[in-house]
Order: sequence, then structure tokens, then C-alpha cells
Amino acid sequence: MDGAAIVEQLMTEDGRNDPYPLYELARGLGPVSRCGEDMIMAVGHREVNQALRNAAFVVADSDLRERWEPGFADHSSKLMLSRSILESNAPHHARMRSLIASVFTARRVAALEPAVVAAVHRLLDEMAEQGADGSPVDFMDSFAFRLPVGVICELLGVPEADRYRFRSLASDLTAALEIIADDSELVAADEAADELSSYFAELAAQRRAHPQDDLVSALVQVAATDEARLSEPELLANLVLLLVAGFETTTNLLGNGLALLFDHPEALAGLRGGTLTPAGFTEEVLRFDSPVQLTSRISLTDGLRIGEVEAPYGTGAFLLIGAANRDPVRYEHPERFDPSRRDSQPLSFGGGPHYCLGAQLARLESNVAMPALLARFPALAPGGEPVRRDRLVLRGYQTLPVVVQP
Ligand code: HEM
Repeated sequence: MDGAAIVEQLMTEDGRNDPYPLYELARGLGPVSRCGEDMIMAVGHREVNQALRNAAFVVADSDLRERWEPGFADHSSKLMLSRSILESNAPHHARMRSLIASVFTARRVAALEPAVVAAVHRLLDEMAEQGADGSPVDFMDSFAFRLPVGVICELLGVPEADRYRFRSLASDLTAALEIIADDSELVAADEAADELSSYFAELAAQRRAHPQDDLVSALVQVAATDEARLSEPELLANLVLLLVAGFETTTNLLGNGLALLFDHPEALAGLRGGTLTPAGFTEEVLRFDSPVQLTSRISLTDGLRIGEVEAPYGTGAFLLIGAANRDPVRYEHPERFDPSRRDSQPLSFGGGPHYCLGAQLARLESNVAMPALLARFPALAPGGEPVRRDRLVLRGYQTLPVVVQP
């Protein structure tokens, strides 16, 4: 199979369900290979890392999309994402990122730990109640989604009553991050973008009038002190991004982690018994079944390469994070799930200028949640067939039934 056929297969339902055999086919073509006219794909750890860190490989921002994707701005989902840091390049990226980083600090995240612990125990209580009669409980809905949404909403300052309606809105919006052939698939994403944007416009207005100790108030204040540094549409786009990036991915980290524990009883016993550390477990879940499987970049400079493959002006590059995390050049027995690995450094949070702002928060949530879940339910077991979400970029489960009580 050539590179183009592999990418085509990745976009089918079977490919999305289990992309790993296709990644190995791609690896057979080399760490970087051509996959279409002006398109290359990277599957090597070194090569993906190198491209992520090279700021000359840019993301598809609004200027580029205007040029190459006429009509993109008719989709409010795409337009909104293109105003966020995720889809901006220098100088706008650095300007917005430094403002957001100034309020989304390591200290603010570390201070959340007691709230994370409390939320974990509250959700475990609810699961215990739901499954007390031995009936299956959906781990995704009852826990994996609720924990991160609760935590990010706490951080942002979104009132408790509003939180749970975000699951379907966020899920609809993330369709705009997938590689899709047909823009008609974006109707729900556009509606979600409009609704989320109006929601945050209202919340920002409230916080402008009555500031509180939360991230929305802090961002509104920096935006107000220097309008030129963060416009209103940028403020809203980045608030929506923080909300969506903050739980879609972490939900999948928790779900993928539990599914791996069920498949690897020795890891489950090790985590329960304390011979494996929660941090080592989390890193290995990130490596083995990354919640973000790929990202892409564009070369706007002649003379660039990824690995040995040239990427002249106008070349698009798929950076297959999920494949790089299983590169045999970088990892011994990459196909083995082994939470005792040292020095794992998966690329699941990206790298370089767009390195994930929430990596510390996501790790904190997983490190607290997974041992607490096992400690709370000594007989935790699968409660039915799990169903994967039909997505490639954001990889996770739609449902993952468990029984908490025999
Ligand atoms: C397991 C959980 C997570 C994973 C796997 C993940 C993964 C990633 C990746 C791969 C990128 C870079 C994308 C690229 O280079 O194109 C990224 C960026 C980002 N992430 Fe995360 N993320 C996670 C959790 C979070 C959380 C909890 C938050 C916020 C609370 C967050 C906020 C962001 C933001 C704002 C960016 C954009 C940074 C920029 O463009 O400068 N993420 N994330």
C-alpha cells in the first residue's frame, strides 16, 4: 500500500477504530513518506518531534485557510478555532499564548489538587450508588467525562449547573478538528461553536461587571487592560478552546487507561498494589493509546525537511503522534503496554511552540483518579462491550461499561 492509500484507509471507520496496523504499514515506507501531492506523513519519534519543534512548520491559521480553503469562514466552528492559539502562528500565537499562560499558571493548577481529589471521591460515591445492585455503570459518562469537565469548569469559573450540557456541544465542535472530506458534516459543529461562543460572551460580561477568583475573570481583566493584545473574538475563541481541549482529551486519557487496565491484569494488580506508580501508568497510557493521535503542519519555507524527506513551500505534513509513540527506534518492544518503562517521553502533548498548556492538569487528574478508582472498587470489572468513538484525531471511548459491585 502506498502512503496515499494508507491515509485513505485511516479515514475509514475500520482505520479509525484501529489505526495501529496502518501506522506499521506507513513505517514500512520509512519514518517520513509521501502520501499525496504536496503531502507527507511522519511516523518516526525523532522526525515528529523535530517537526513539532520547528516553528518554520506552521499551523493552518486563518490567513492560510482564506487562501487555500475558500469559504472556511462560513463555518463558525472553523472560524472560531482559527482565532484560538491552537490555530495561530507568530506573532499572534506568542501574543495570545503569553497572556493565557500568565493566568493559567502551574501554581493555579497545583492549587486545584484538593478540588480534584474531592471531585474524584464524589464521583466514585455516585458510581457506587448507581452500580450498587450489580448493574453496569458507564465509566465514560459517570466518571471520565464528569471529572475533567468539573475541573476545567472550576478553573474557568463556569457555574456547576451549566457543566453537563457541554459534553455533546464539545463533542460536536471537535468534528471541526478531524480530517473530513465533506463540510456538510460541520452543521452540528457550527451550531455548537455559536452556542459556546454566546455562552462565554455572557459569562465574560458577568465577570467584567463582578470579577471573581477564576480564569475567566483573570483573562477578561488582561484583555481589558490591553485591548490590542486580546480582542473579544480571540478571548471567546480561547475560552472555548480551553473548555473543549480541557476535557475531551482528558476524558479519553481516563477511558483509554481503564480499558488498558482491563486488558492487562498485571498492570492493574501493580497499580493497585503500589509496585507501579500512578505517574508511570499515566505516561504509558499516553504513549500506548494517545488521546490525540495526530496533528498537522504546513511548510512555508523552501529548503525545509522532515528527516530525510524534503518539504518545500506549500507541503502539508501529517504528524502521526500515535505512531511516533510506538516507534521501535525509540522504544524497546513498543507494542507492549509496560507502565514500568523509564524515560518514556511520549509526544502525546505535542512539542515546541504549541506544546499543550494543560499537560500538568491532565496528568494530575489521571494520577489522582486511577488509583482512587481501583482502591474504591476492589472488584471493578468490565460490564459489557466498550464502544469506541468514531474519531481518529481524538481517540477514546463513547461508552465503557463497568461493574463496581459483584
Ligand atoms: C490527556 C490530555 C491532553 C492531551 C493528550 C492533549 C494534547 C494536546 C496536543 C497534542 C496539543 C498540541 C497540538 C498541536 O501541536 O497541533 C495540545 C495543545 C493544547 N492543549 Fe492539550 N491535551 C490534553 C489536555 C489538555 C488540558 C487539560 C487543557 C486545558 C485545560 C489543554 C489545553 C491545550 C491548549 C490550550 C493547547 C493549545 C496550545 C497552543 O497552541 O499553544 N489540553 N494539547
